[in-house]
Amino acid sequence: MGSLPVQTSFDVEDVLSQLTIPEKVALLSGIDFWHTAPVHRLGVPSIRLSDGPNGVRGTRFFNGVPAACLPCGTGLAATWDTDLVKKGGALQGTEAIAKGASVILGPTTNMQRSPLGGRGFESFSEDPYLAGAMSASTINGIQSTGVSATIKHFVCNDQEDQRQAVDSILTERALREIYLMPFQIAQRDSRPDCYMTAYNKVNGTHASENPRLLKDVLRGEWGFDGLTMSDWFGTYSTTEAIKAGLDLEMPGPSYIRAHLVNQALGCGKLLVRDVDERVREVLKLVKKTQALGIPENAPETTIDSPETSEFLRTLSANGLVLLKNNDNLLPLDKKKTTAVIGPNAAYASYCGGGSASLLPYYAISPLDGIREQVPEAKYALGAPAWKALPLMTRLSKTKKGDHGLTMTVFLDPPSVTNRKAIDEVFVNKSDILLVDYKHPKIKSSLYYLELNGTFTPEQTTDYDFSMCCAGTGKIFVNGELVVDNETHQRPGNSFFGAGTAEEIGRMKLEEGKTYDIKVTFGTLPTMTFSSPGTTGFGAGGLRVGLERKAEIETEIERAVQLAKEVDQVILCAGLNSEWESEGYDREHMDLPPGSDKLIKAVLAANPNTAIVIQSGTPVAMPWLESAPAVLQAWYGGNETGNAIADVVFGNTNPSGKLPLSFPIRNEDNPAFLNYKSERNRAIYGEDVYIGYRFYEKTNKEVAFPFGHGLSYTQFDIKDLSVSDDGAEILVSATVSNTGKVDGAQVVQVYFSQHNASINRPKKELKGFSKVFVKAGQSEKVGIAISKKYATSFWDEARDAWVMEKDTFDVLVGDSSANTPLTAQVKVLRSEWWRGL
Ligand code: BGC
Repeated sequence: MGSLPVQTSFDVEDVLSQLTIPEKVALLSGIDFWHTAPVHRLGVPSIRLSDGPNGVRGTRFFNGVPAACLPCGTGLAATWDTDLVKKGGALQGTEAIAKGASVILGPTTNMQRSPLGGRGFESFSEDPYLAGAMSASTINGIQSTGVSATIKHFVCNDQEDQRQAVDSILTERALREIYLMPFQIAQRDSRPDCYMTAYNKVNGTHASENPRLLKDVLRGEWGFDGLTMSDWFGTYSTTEAIKAGLDLEMPGPSYIRAHLVNQALGCGKLLVRDVDERVREVLKLVKKTQALGIPENAPETTIDSPETSEFLRTLSANGLVLLKNNDNLLPLDKKKTTAVIGPNAAYASYCGGGSASLLPYYAISPLDGIREQVPEAKYALGAPAWKALPLMTRLSKTKKGDHGLTMTVFLDPPSVTNRKAIDEVFVNKSDILLVDYKHPKIKSSLYYLELNGTFTPEQTTDYDFSMCCAGTGKIFVNGELVVDNETHQRPGNSFFGAGTAEEIGRMKLEEGKTYDIKVTFGTLPTMTFSSPGTTGFGAGGLRVGLERKAEIETEIERAVQLAKEVDQVILCAGLNSEWESEGYDREHMDLPPGSDKLIKAVLAANPNTAIVIQSGTPVAMPWLESAPAVLQAWYGGNETGNAIADVVFGNTNPSGKLPLSFPIRNEDNPAFLNYKSERNRAIYGEDVYIGYRFYEKTNKEVAFPFGHGLSYTQFDIKDLSVSDDGAEILVSATVSNTGKVDGAQVVQVYFSQHNASINRPKKELKGFSKVFVKAGQSEKVGIAISKKYATSFWDEARDAWVMEKDTFDVLVGDSSANTPLTAQVKVLRSEWWRGL
């Protein structure tokens, strides 16, 4: 593609009037994974879109240019700090510019119906108000830099199981009050430039061709006048999608527009006017982003700085939630002897899996972070908790001595003698998704790779080698075949469901001896089976792992021994990007095999053990009674380990609050019976009773309620006063820090209707404010709340919101389970409304 030399602005209507039909048709789809189509003769450049939602990856899944990684969605929402989250958005905007991207594909604003959602970590909250506030803050931050945000996935992409085929079946009331509400709030408060449609159907029609959602609600009721794009390979029709209002098919090259649009124009199923409506939005977006001055095909750069690190450390630490802290076990004393134990300690679980993942500038593991503050802290693995073996590139070295592997690319299979290499690439992460890998000589998705490196073990023991792939491959150690994922392949859920199960081979290796490793790979077309719904996986990919054999029992014994030798233990357990990922949901809510046993054993060996859990969504904690202290640490981005250490040792006073309830068991969750695609449908049977709305209504005990989070100090919230001018309710209160350390508290405001004409949740969050208060001092907070949003429910009979004539309690406190302050407001006359 030639580039446009000078960035000049253009007039949208003028360009539209001059475009030929082929040019218009071209503008309706991307040209590759990440770029829109240009029309150079009329001064319309191609612009770059990049994932979102917790950092900006750029144009390469594999071997990307390193980027700043923010905490995952739940970790951000757990800060309950709209200013901080807005700054996070602004950082993403700046990062996007460094990556030459004009549009960020984020934030993700779906809902956690169940703890099992594979992408639950990406979204903010089970509460639509909190999710909406966090989305709006992120979008305002991103768009303050001139970069466009794409709120996604519109709407009801709340599970991964059969995500393209599943029909999310729900009442109009649940759709409005729970699932559309975060988008509605974001639309009202931040006007995102773009929306990405969901993969799934909503009540019978796919979101990407759903006129009710795209035309009636989004553009009609909410007045959205920006661009809608499909999720990747989520455009399923030509005419219907265009007519419904889907502007841009992504990615390209087009598989369902292009000549099919010509055909539809030819037979009159589409009129040029239909196409013009869509093209106009593409042109408007391109024109808007031109102010950024990003040249076409801009190089991708890094802008890491100490300020970014410092900000990310604060952002991550502020989202950590102190769930339990009996007898003030935390913060720990740096002077005491300390052990760091657990599967998440030495491995940095900085981000969930799938399109949210990116190559971070760096990632601090909890062990690194803790040793930074207590250098002599001892370490034991405790239990291997990986779902797939850790990446080989942690341990392997290239000829030059760098950690990683050397990848050579061939057009011919290994059977061709003297085949010529067309590319040689250094790989520092042996998780290689080739969908957006480009090389001028590669003209089809069929080609071959070889990865080479060496490995020098630190112990004489058995080592496990592994491979899962969307393609075929083998691993050889010193010429000996150790893993064969070619001859017999088993379907699995790797590579967004397109790939195989992980095949593992074991070999005894000797300490200090250097072994040659060779991995051979044929791309996706060589695979011996194909999975449905994996359109666009092009060349596929491979993931190669290596780790010493670790048996749960032996590792636990070692950990217990270590725990007995020290004054205090930090036990880091949880999930990672293999357990929580786009492409599949979790099978259960438990920690990985061995972890619960480890935690129980270590707690018995040393009662001064603080448990740190890293997960994007709730996990079961069967050992909770015996654990004195539990810290929920999410996936914290680059600074994960430093943020954990800061809270564990008290440099940061924790102030995070849960953005979602932690049920005791998955069976307690309201979506338990309906969280799966059953022959392509998922019934949202819990209706509006998602999360705490259900647990409260049914008086079900939870492990930790929505909004909960402790501090190293104590707060008193008092002097509640509420004023009401008919449109806005102003809630004010005083927060006193009655303890000995400075800290922050979140004042949470819930509304509850006295005599609703229909069944409503006991209470619903409608406002909050986080306030920092110095020890011994007090601060006043004022929270302005839209009265109609705070009081209304969706009236299905009138197809409108209604604020009913009634009295409403305004309940104020520091969690959904603790709202000791009450005031009342009245709605004097029932009123129905639509729109924003
Ligand atoms: C995800 C989107 C993402 C897109 C591009 C899809 O698989 O659902 O959220 O933006 O890929 O990576």
